[in-house]
Amino acid sequence: MSRTKTLYTCRECGASFPKWAGQCADCGAWNTLEEGVAVAQKKALAPRFAGYAGDAAAAIRSLAEVEPGHTRRSATGLPELDRVLGGGLVQGSVVLIGGDPGIGKSTLLIQALASLSEQMPALYVSGEESAEQIGMRARRLDLPAEKLRLLTETCVEHTLALAVKERPAVMVMDSIQTFYSEQLQSAPGSVAQVRESAAQLVRFAKQTGTSLFLVGHVTKEGALAGPRVLEHMVDTVLYFEGEAGSQIRLVRAIKNRFGAVNELGVFAMTDKGLREVSNPSAIFLSRHQQEVAGSAILVTREGTRPLLVEVQALVDQSPLGNPRRVALGLEQNRLAMLLAVLHRHGGIGMFDQDVFLNVVGGVRVTETAADLPVLLSVLSSFRDRPLPQGLAAFGEVGLAGEIRPVPSGEDRVREAAKHGFSRILLPEANRPRKAVKGIEVVPVRRLSEALDILGQ
Ligand code: TYD
Ligand code: MG
Repeated sequence: MSRTKTLYTCRECGASFPKWAGQCADCGAWNTLEEGVAVAQKKALAPRFAGYAGDAAAAIRSLAEVEPGHTRRSATGLPELDRVLGGGLVQGSVVLIGGDPGIGKSTLLIQALASLSEQMPALYVSGEESAEQIGMRARRLDLPAEKLRLLTETCVEHTLALAVKERPAVMVMDSIQTFYSEQLQSAPGSVAQVRESAAQLVRFAKQTGTSLFLVGHVTKEGALAGPRVLEHMVDTVLYFEGEAGSQIRLVRAIKNRFGAVNELGVFAMTDKGLREVSNPSAIFLSRHQQEVAGSAILVTREGTRPLLVEVQALVDQSPLGNPRRVALGLEQNRLAMLLAVLHRHGGIGMFDQDVFLNVVGGVRVTETAADLPVLLSVLSSFRDRPLPQGLAAFGEVGLAGEIRPVPSGEDRVREAAKHGFSRILLPEANRPRKAVKGIEVVPVRRLSEALDILGQ
């Protein structure tokens, strides 16, 4: 049998060549040629346009005729993981889980797979750890191990040949960087290998209806192996994050063909594996013994879930000509913009002050509802005056100094009330239609109103 032909394809322009070269002869980019498998070109189909005869029309349907497919979902035994998957693992879907080494990807998947193996045939393929290591971990975590099947292998073709015999309904590949295809010569972990291995696995999943989890290590630059080569091939991309030294682990959906993105699952890493945190608001609030200046409580939203987090600001006289603006967990440019609004519409300038901002617990807040609480915390630190106790806030601040509404106002008010907050500052347009029990709603239209109410 002749060896499969390889082709070198330019990452920039897509031109392919039979031989490797340092420079792409087509677009002139350097070091962009990557090895890939040459797909045998089928003979060009003879055009049969005359009279529109042929069977092509049979494949084209009206959208209204398409029956909504019935997606079968299985519970993974970890409701927080089900939540980020959009309500359970979809049959035949391919899920990529990315994260730093040691964050707990293998732990999460072995826990999920052990639980899934009670309902369906499950196979765990590891290219990283030995069977003994995996067995020891499963025993330590008290996982039901009888039905979970295990394979240590790094060759994709071998794995798939065995999988075809084993017929798992769900399979984990840990990690995609350790797998290689026999059709390529480059080393495992190279972009070409990762892409080819993943392509074969995805094809297998789609053709057999097997649900597939791919584990992907994040490179130092924070990208999944290769320039996002995997993200477009899979149905769902989850990122597993956590702060160094903290037990809290967050699973975030970045892309999901079967559910909402930006959904967040919260876990805590314990000595018995990952435990779910079903009430995450509680952990992102550092309840202070007494009121402190510079701290504000924000009601944000992660996916469909409202979440209370604490924003802390430190404003201090700057020794530098160009004072620092540092935002952790929030966008830096947004902080600069908010400080400009505060000056222009609140009459408070911080040109000679360093401003540091942090969201407690390593949460990243990307929505504009943080604007108002951010300004409150900055101002509170600047004046060294704590905000009233039991106060929470949310709302977007516009460049004209107006407080603009954000989605799901009422859910946020309820979440704050549930956690014992007694007052909430919110945009006028987000005022709930009915009073929410136990919490006083303080609607504001402009930044100046908010500042007046707090007497800052
Ligand atoms: P692991 O799942 O191996 O990480 P990854 O697959 O993402 O590289 O997790 C490894 C870390 O988790 C390791 O530092 C030890 C810790 N850990 C616990 O704290 N408790 C546990 O029960 C387990 C299994 C791991
Ligand atoms: Mg691992």
